[in-house]
This record gives sequence, C-alpha cells and structure tokens, in this order.
Amino acid sequence: MQDLSDLILSRIRDVSDYPKPGIVFKDITPLLADHVAFTAVVEALADGLDVDKVVGIEARGFILAAPVALRAGAGFVPVRKKGKLPAQTLEASYDLEYGSAVIEVHRDAFEPGDRVLIVDDVLATGGTAAAAVELVGRAGAEVVGVSMLMELSFLKGRERLGHPALRALVAL
Ligand code: PRP
Repeated sequence: MQDLSDLILSRIRDVSDYPKPGIVFKDITPLLADHVAFTAVVEALADGLDVDKVVGIEARGFILAAPVALRAGAGFVPVRKKGKLPAQTLEASYDLEYGSAVIEVHRDAFEPGDRVLIVDDVLATGGTAAAAVELVGRAGAEVVGVSMLMELSFLKGRERLGHPALRALVAL
C-alpha cells in the first residue's frame, strides 16, 4: 500500500496559482498518462467491490469511475454539473467558497436498492461528494462506498461528508 501511495504521489503534479492566485492545484494528468500508475489506481479502487453501479463525478471523476465500473462488473452512472444531462434529472446544490453549485443525476439512473460506489479524484471540502451521496439516495439507491484518489485532509471534507465508507488512496 505504501508502494501505491508513493507511486500516486510521484505522479501528481503541483501547479501553483491555478485556477486562482494562492491555490496549488493537484494535477493528475501525469498519473493518467502513466499506464502502470493508472492501472494500479483503477485496480485499487475496484478491489473487492460488490456493487451494481459506479458513479463518477464530472469531470475528472469520470476518468477514474468508468474503468473501475468495468473492472468491478458494474454499470457506470455520470453525476454532472447542471444542464448537461439530457433526460429528467434530480438535482442537489452545495455551497462553494463563494456562491453555490448544482449537480444532477438522471432520475432513472438506478434500479431500486442498487448498491452504489461513488468515485472522484479529490475530496476537498466534501461539498461535491456530499451532494452526490444525497442524489444517489434520493434516486432510490444505496451508497455503499465513496472512493477518492486523494483527500486534502486539511480541508476537513471527511467530517463534512460524514460517510463511514469513505476511502482515499492517498491523504495530503
Ligand atoms: C473538483 C474535484 C471534485 C471537487 C472536490 O472538481 O474533481 O469533484 O472539485 O471539491 P469539494 O470536495 O470541495 O467539493 P471541479 O469542481 O473542479 O470540477 P472538474 O473536475 O470538472 O474540473
């Protein structure tokens, strides 16, 4: 596991002052470009999974969640920013540092009682993940896991989310 953490950390690039001055952005594109690292991450996220659907959160969550779903023998469901999904949706809003954001899922994305894993690249403040958990529940499915590539512990997203099955491959 230490080897995996080291591999992940070696492939995440810090980009200073993006998207705003003072922010250090965690860029996962070097990890995605490395076949060995990308495969190791997908295998770790899919390890031991027993779920019906894997939810990916737009946009970087899609890149991780889709291969995890295939490896786990599960379907893939996108949670998207407002206005991007074509059929009837459920929506949830959450607070940002300034203002708020809205994410959506298709109303018919799940069968009743589906077991669902939510996947994203980063848990920061936890607002996005909390809204995704709420959406899946309102759509009639059960969130049995929330898996992140990385967790920015200093932002206390774990506390905000409060989900017992939150897992992050690396914590910063
Ligand atoms: C990032 C990240 C998570 C979210 C985490 O997405 O991919 O989805 O922020 O932040 P939070 O825990 O504070 O809610 P972003 O909104 O930048 O979207 P993108 O992947 O489309 O760039």
